[in-house]
Amino acid sequence: MIASGKQDIEGLQEIGGIIRLILDEMEARVRPGVTTLELDQQVGRLLEQHGARSAPKLAYNFPGYSCISVGDEAAHGIPGPRVLEEGQLVNIDVSAEKNGYWADSGRSMPVGDVDPLLSSLCTTTRKALKAGIKAAQAGNPINAIGKAVEKVARRGGFQIIDGLVGHGVGRNIHEPPEVHNKYQPSGRTLLQEGLVITIEPFLTPGEGHYREGRDGWTLLTLDGSPSAQYEHTLIITKGQPIIVT
Ligand code: CO
Ligand code: CO
Repeated sequence: MIASGKQDIEGLQEIGGIIRLILDEMEARVRPGVTTLELDQQVGRLLEQHGARSAPKLAYNFPGYSCISVGDEAAHGIPGPRVLEEGQLVNIDVSAEKNGYWADSGRSMPVGDVDPLLSSLCTTTRKALKAGIKAAQAGNPINAIGKAVEKVARRGGFQIIDGLVGHGVGRNIHEPPEVHNKYQPSGRTLLQEGLVITIEPFLTPGEGHYREGRDGWTLLTLDGSPSAQYEHTLIITKGQPIIVT
């Protein structure tokens, strides 16, 4: 959507703030021995408490309030009885709607102590998101985002997972345009003030391809490598974007 005026900005900030609070709560709860179902049930309770609705349930009838992906799962993992183990990375992606406004955010989180490669993967992915956000200014071509993200990934020695992209958001969970994490020569459309998008780089120490799982939802790395993702929803301005999550 194109956010125009105070009401739109405040509506997006409200749902974005709820999502941020839920992810903070998840970060406090992630530890060895917790199941992904327990985490998801808490996401459901918190959404309800704040008068918000789960976007994946609302838009796609997804079997969970949030997407919880572990290990070689990159995205859209289904919450279930699986127990988190020391040394894993878990990604929790929360997207939700309130009063007609939609926002989307995700974070990879270490379960207990993780090895230095996974720590570095998380640090580099956060940096890549930050660089993408910095490039997301009105008047810049949309491919400036992917260019910035890709540069950080490459310097850190990681690959971007091909085909997993950010997107427009605001009045629905997935709106145009696609926001690529790699430089696309054809992506010359200029970012417009008020445009609401997500930026969500997926990085891996592996080869950077994914496959669909047998459950019809989960996306896994093709070579079984771990992956990390961080995602924010933001509103484009002439200066630095307004991060609503
Ligand atoms: Co998301
Ligand atoms: Co998203």
